[in-house]
Amino acid sequence: MYNLLKGKKGIIFGALNEHSIAWKTAERAHEEGAKFVLTNAPASIRMGELDVLAKKTGSQIIAADATSIRDLEHLVEKSMDILGGKIDFVLHSIGMSVNVRKGKSYTDPNYDFTTKGWDVSAVSFHKMLNVLYKKEAMNDWGSIVALTYMAAQRVFPDYNDMADNKAYLESVARSFGYFFGRDYKVRVNTISQSPTPTTAGKGVKGFDGFIAYSEKMSPLGNATALECADYTISMFSDLTKKVTLQNLFHDGGFSNMGVSDAVLENFE
Ligand code: NAI
Repeated sequence: MYNLLKGKKGIIFGALNEHSIAWKTAERAHEEGAKFVLTNAPASIRMGELDVLAKKTGSQIIAADATSIRDLEHLVEKSMDILGGKIDFVLHSIGMSVNVRKGKSYTDPNYDFTTKGWDVSAVSFHKMLNVLYKKEAMNDWGSIVALTYMAAQRVFPDYNDMADNKAYLESVARSFGYFFGRDYKVRVNTISQSPTPTTAGKGVKGFDGFIAYSEKMSPLGNATALECADYTISMFSDLTKKVTLQNLFHDGGFSNMGVSDAVLENFE
């Protein structure tokens, strides 16, 4: 380990179980010397697994529905109390489509579900940034990361309305990132990760085919949750101070591929 986050304080959203990208990021942040607060929706915390991570990393848990400004205000205030000052890094690792959960197709969704999924997956990032900005809660040269997927740029039919949510999320990172950079020297980026076998990932229809295809298309193979955590840690460290307003692909090269030998073999 490299002590990359020694003395840094953070908030990590979205660790549900040991498969979660946020879970791996919390473990890595702990190894790199950070102190942080873990947060998730009350219903997810009630499942109980987060206690294990909290104990392991010496962290406290604060419940917050990321769609509620009140919950977010409480979270940010309480986190600064617990950690003894302003925040250096924040991970937004939240995604959920009600249409996907209820088996609705992209072409004929329930629009109440669309709105709810958009709020949870995308607007929550704007709300989180809004609260951090208004409360002047970030230290200078802090770093904020949200996780996204390439369906924001290219068509993956079964990703459904999450594609639109991710496009919105990436746009928020750029738009709000401008103000955070200008006023607080804080960077805001999205990391676009390979398909990963987590609870949210496996919820995508045809996930097994999806992940196998992308493994064969990527010259370096799919990036794992732990590798995503490592990349995120580098984005929280002082080694990446001038990287901002970016959508950073962490996908083994998938996003720039046309076709690979391994995929072509199936058609010859
Ligand atoms: P996960 O299922 O472990 O994490 C999703 C988290 O969102 C859960 O902890 C859940 O409790 C939280 N959440 C849902 N509604 C919430 C709310 N209202 N307030 C607060 N938290 C809420 O799955 P994973 O894969 O670790 O997801 C993390 C992020 O990575 C998501 O943004 C996801 O879209 C993104 N991502 C995942 C990929 C994959 O294939 N698994 C690929 C690319 C990006």
